[in-house]
Amino acid sequence: MGFPYVRLRRLRMKEGLRRMIRETRLSKDNLVYPVFVRPGENIKVEIKSMPGCYQLSIDKAVDECKGVYDLGIPAVILFGIPEYKDPYGSGAYADNGIIQRTIERIKKSIPDLVLIADVCLCEYTDHGHCGIIKNGIVDNDSTIEILAREALSYAKAGVDMVAPSDMMDGRIKKIREKLDSKGFSTVPIMAYSAKYSSSFYGPFREAAESAPSFGDRKSYQMDFCNSREAIREIELDIEEGADIVMVKPALCYLDIIAKVRERFDLPIAAYNVSGEYAMVMAAIEKGWLDKDMIIYEMLTSIKRAGADMIITYFAKDIVDILNNIDG
Ligand code: PBG
Repeated sequence: MGFPYVRLRRLRMKEGLRRMIRETRLSKDNLVYPVFVRPGENIKVEIKSMPGCYQLSIDKAVDECKGVYDLGIPAVILFGIPEYKDPYGSGAYADNGIIQRTIERIKKSIPDLVLIADVCLCEYTDHGHCGIIKNGIVDNDSTIEILAREALSYAKAGVDMVAPSDMMDGRIKKIREKLDSKGFSTVPIMAYSAKYSSSFYGPFREAAESAPSFGDRKSYQMDFCNSREAIREIELDIEEGADIVMVKPALCYLDIIAKVRERFDLPIAAYNVSGEYAMVMAAIEKGWLDKDMIIYEMLTSIKRAGADMIITYFAKDIVDILNNIDG
């Protein structure tokens, strides 16, 4: 049966009706807010290409996390800018490293906030790559040993979840084994499984001071021309023990999220990355897009594609927007 008996507009005539048939509902429970922590006291430096986002000293990061928790956002993901960088990224697994101290402080003041730590070396190496350089290339097998040490060190500090973002082969297995052997079998791993080599990370590299000093990340992050390969990455990470898999970036990769949703049953995270934030904020600042509605539409599209969790710099904004829409 078709027109004129069928008229899809009938169920669009009133907001009440539209609410009743709405298929996707974004909730603050879906959100993770990224926090950048740097050394010092009482420091809050705005990131130029990410208006409204800051590098924070630990005390300020604690305040930020309190605010995030009070809004009802369940989780934050931490990124560190260390005191020193060296070829091995040793600041990443130092007992008194920036993230370790941050975890301890946040745990004390906001014990119910879900604390996720990004596990990678690029913020901690003087060359800015996500691993150890041997013979001019990022060496896989020595890097995953160090990543496992980093993850363990965060677990010891009290983190609730670790999120390796390096894209080395076999790192999930190494990290799982290390955590399990040291008594942290209950700490889950959120794997940045399908992480593409993307120009959308530009602003983050300013924020985390982690741009590579030579070359690029194409020998470890995925080629954005590929989608079947994302499935292979995800299959392997699940086999190795990932509890949550991630697709990153989000907006140009909704096809990947949808495909992964169809194939796998574990929770999927999507990272709405820095460049996606910067691009939208620039248009908002120019008055070219309506802030609230554009954020609502974008984040909803990521959930509609199949993501359970969205890591986004818009997390705080969308809570207010959702309160207005639902309230
Ligand atoms: C670290 C890491 C990056 C991001 C998250 N973890 C940057 C990169 O791989 O260069 C990007 C996040 C964003 O752009 O918002 N490896």
